[in-house]
Amino acid sequence: MSLKTSYRFIAPFYDLFVDRATRAARKRSLARLPQQVLPQQGAAKVLLNGVGTGLDLLYLPLCHEYTALDITAAMLARAQPRADNLNMQCVQGDSMALPFAANCFDYLILHLIVAVVPQPPLCLHEAARVLKPGGRMFLFDKFLQAGERAWLRRALTPLVGQLATRLDVVFEEVMRSAPDLRVITDEPILARGWFRLIELQKVQ
Ligand SMILES: C[S@@+](CC[C@H](N)C(=O)[O-])C[C@H]1O[C@@H](n2cnc3c(N)ncnc32)[C@H](O)[C@@H]1O
Repeated sequence: MSLKTSYRFIAPFYDLFVDRATRAARKRSLARLPQQVLPQQGAAKVLLNGVGTGLDLLYLPLCHEYTALDITAAMLARAQPRADNLNMQCVQGDSMALPFAANCFDYLILHLIVAVVPQPPLCLHEAARVLKPGGRMFLFDKFLQAGERAWLRRALTPLVGQLATRLDVVFEEVMRSAPDLRVITDEPILARGWFRLIELQKVQ
């Protein structure tokens, strides 16, 4: 089964299971966006990559231009009404083959997408491609430590990875796919550090 199919069925229940547990982490991650238009930049162009049901949308500053991408129409259909006050367009597309030109976004929000898709390195590589030099991306996701055994999560990945998310992704390995990205901050946020908030910048 593809993730596009399974998330069609997950869509009606997603918020019930995910919203409360992730609210504080999302707020903290999104607070890093400029809260007003920067004189030298104008309204920032922000890509919400794998927007899902739009749980992030409540915490976005109103002043920027948003593009919300997801592969699952049923998830986008839930995100759209949450964008009421935002300048946001929805795009159905694949995070591993983004339908955007290189260097066109100032910020990327990657919440629960890099470690979800079948090929995380391709997802990060694509994210780096569409980010402008000097632009920043904010990740919130679950990553194993390099060398961590986590045998149960690794054993479950072939099954759970087809239905909802991978559980075996090591961030440092994924980073090799995007040599023009630098880590600005990396902090544990949930589940004893399995979930992390990571800020990356594309070199100028
Ligand atoms: C775990 S949810 C995260 C949603 C949202 N970012 C959040 O933080 O709540 C994963 C989302 O990724 C989407 N997705 C899965 N594979 C994708 C792909 N290849 N390209 C784009 N979106 C994808 C799913 O449809 C789902 O909406």
